[in-house]
Amino acid sequence: MEITSELFRKAYEQMSDAVFLLQGKSEIITSNPAANRLLDQYEVNLDDFCTFCNGYTSNFEERTCLGCSLRKRVDNESFQLFLNLKVGKNIPFSASYTLIDEKAGISVLILRNLTQQQHTEQLLKQKTMTEYVINAQENERKRLSRELHDGLAQGLFSTLIELRKIKYMTKKEDYESSLSEMDSMLATTLEDIRNMAIELRPSSLDDLGIFAALKAYFKRYEQLFGIHVVFVSELYGTRFPASVETMLYRVTQEALTNAAKYADVGEIEVYLFKTKQSIVLEINDQGIGFSPDHFTAQGSGLGLLNMKERVELLNGDFELRSEPQQGTKVLVRIPIEPKGGRTT
Ligand SMILES: Nc1ncnc2c1ncn2[C@@H]1O[C@H](COP(=O)(O)OP(=O)(O)OP(=O)(O)O)[C@@H](O)[C@H]1O
Ligand SMILES: [Mg+2]
Repeated sequence: MEITSELFRKAYEQMSDAVFLLQGKSEIITSNPAANRLLDQYEVNLDDFCTFCNGYTSNFEERTCLGCSLRKRVDNESFQLFLNLKVGKNIPFSASYTLIDEKAGISVLILRNLTQQQHTEQLLKQKTMTEYVINAQENERKRLSRELHDGLAQGLFSTLIELRKIKYMTKKEDYESSLSEMDSMLATTLEDIRNMAIELRPSSLDDLGIFAALKAYFKRYEQLFGIHVVFVSELYGTRFPASVETMLYRVTQEALTNAAKYADVGEIEVYLFKTKQSIVLEINDQGIGFSPDHFTAQGSGLGLLNMKERVELLNGDFELRSEPQQGTKVLVRIPIEPKGGRTT
């Protein structure tokens, strides 16, 4: 017991967390060296933290004073708040308040500096994001390389063989049939190159905006998959920032490709509209659906993740609703910033 309390005393003195033993609302009975250093460096007044702290983090906001856990002296709950250094900066702390003797009104307040922890979290998040972007780029390159090799290069190679054969032809009919064969092979290859260029980045997206680009995409989609697209939008001619238009286009493309691959439907509905606060994109199919909480992706499984990332990068909300046999709905909401802001 002696040894244990001696060890606890050492821990109390050497730890980097600031520990205050308080009586009543704010009288400090004792504090450890880290707490004394904190009082030296920060503008702290235990009588009224409120004057000095810069808000705490609730479930709704990063910095708020509404229902402050410190003011309420919420027992045994840790929360994040921000303290002012005497030299100016705001530093994030985690705080916890525990009532240890209710009768005598004694409690312990522990404050831990979160700067390093938040820095590490940020680095990790950045690293994951970079890895994700690199992976996505690599996958796209693989797909392009396959398409160049298996599609375009094969088409040109066949035409080349046909061309070489001509040298040895003696009959006019053979010669003419070969020429017409080459004509149609080159026309197909040319069409493939055009389609690939459009798929990479349709020029209509830059020149005419999201409405026109989607219209053109739906037309190609209907021809390719035989699935009818019902497009409802009043945004003809409305322009949004390039990042928003690209996101709307890519999300629609992925959702429609998924529907063609998995949903087994003959029709898809796409709604694109603007409210006062946001741009909304909704894509519905009444197909076979799936269970978003437990499913095994049938392809590489990057599509849904990609959509979510793209939307969240623009501070938007991404929602996927689906159930087996109940169809699938993809819902995207992008906030419109006040005039002069990002998305208006
Ligand atoms: N509209 C849909 N109807 C039915 N199932 C769907 C639909 N959309 C997605 N799914 C299911 O969700 C899975 C994950 O979709 P996701 O787009 O993430 O990956 P993927 O299409 O399998 O591969 P990738 O998009 O990377 O080529 C799909 O494999 C499919 O099982
Ligand atoms: Mg997909």
